Parts: sequence; structure tokens; C-alpha cells
Amino acid sequence: MTMLDDIEKILITEEQLQVRIRDLAAELNARYTDDDVPLLVCILKGAVMFLSDLVRHLDFRHEMDFMVVSSYGSGTRSSGIVRILLDLEANIEGRHVIIVEDIIDTGHTLNYILHNLETRHPASIRIATLLNKPSRREIFDIPVDFVGFEIPDEFVLGFGLDYAEQYRNLPFIGVLKPEVYTHVND
Ligand code: IMP
Ligand code: MG
Repeated sequence: MTMLDDIEKILITEEQLQVRIRDLAAELNARYTDDDVPLLVCILKGAVMFLSDLVRHLDFRHEMDFMVVSSYGSGTRSSGIVRILLDLEANIEGRHVIIVEDIIDTGHTLNYILHNLETRHPASIRIATLLNKPSRREIFDIPVDFVGFEIPDEFVLGFGLDYAEQYRNLPFIGVLKPEVYTHVND
């Protein structure tokens, strides 16, 4: 048995991811200039692959910073309770901020991060998310500027996204076989 045997199907292939990320980078390149020096705020751990592939196609000066927030524990359902486990190093007052997230599901996580960062008075905040699951949204007024893929209501993993902290390394976005979820603890 290998990790790949746990995968029921591939939703987005490695190539589709790379093509779309290149397009998203082009969208960002059209919106920002060297004068902005925006701060890309990567939400760890899920967005780490997205960030690292995205920035390699950006042509404007920028900086990166990282936040860790708790949302899911190891289960598959959002609690709506979000905590900052690691905060930004950078002071974002007066700066252009781009939040880089792996997926928006209910919206609770991003909603919390957005309001938290707004209290620090950045010049602007935009959101770039690799995946969007609109069917599960509970918070509806989140302005999402850059979306990689809209996906159906399925629990996905790979390319940074985990199930119980595993499968983040898969180069595609996939869905697990139902029998793998025998120890769901949410
Ligand atoms: P939300 O607060 O419900 O929007 O959930 C956002 C966070 O939950 C994301 O940053 C992910 O870490 C996690 N998440 C939501 N849906 C999935 C999924 O399908 N697979 C893996 N992680 C997910
Ligand atoms: Mg996450």
C-alpha cells in the first residue's frame, strides 16, 4: 500500500494547477507594480505550495510573510473558531497586502484573518485563493479577488492541503477513498 492507493480520484492535475497558477500570476502582475511592494501573506501550512509556485511567476517587487491559524484540527469540518498560532513578522500599516490561501470553504478562517488584518490599517487587502468551495459558504461578504478553481463540495487534499496533516506533498488535488476516513475526529 502506498499513499496513492488512498486516492479515489484526481480532481485537478499537476498540469492544470501549473497552468492556472501561471494565469493567476499574470492577473497579479497586471494589478501590482514595483512601487506597491505588496506583502504576500501565506496562510500556513496549506498555502505553501501555492505561494511557492505563484511567486516564481510574479514580475513585481514584493515581500512574503507567514501566518499560522488553527481552523480544522485533524477533522474535516470547520468549527468557526479561529486562533492565530503564528502572527506576521511585518508591520502592515500602510502596506498593500495579498492574502494567499489554499481554500475557502465556510469562509470562517478567511473572514477572521481579513478582519484581524484590517485593524492594522493596511493600504489595501486582496485575497488570492487556489480553491473555492462556494457551496459550503457560511460567510458571504468576503471579497475574493483571485480564485484558481471553483470546486464541488468534496473534501480535497494534495498540493498543500491535508487530511490529518498528511497528503500535502501530492502534486495534484485529489479526493480520498471513503474508507480512509475511518478515524475522523472532528
Ligand atoms: P473555512 O474556515 O471553512 O473556510 O476553511 C478554511 C480552511 O479549512 C482551509 O484553510 C483549509 O485548511 C481547511 N479546509 C477546508 N476545506 C478543505 C478541504 O477540502 N481539504 C483540506 N482542507 C480544507
Ligand atoms: Mg489551511
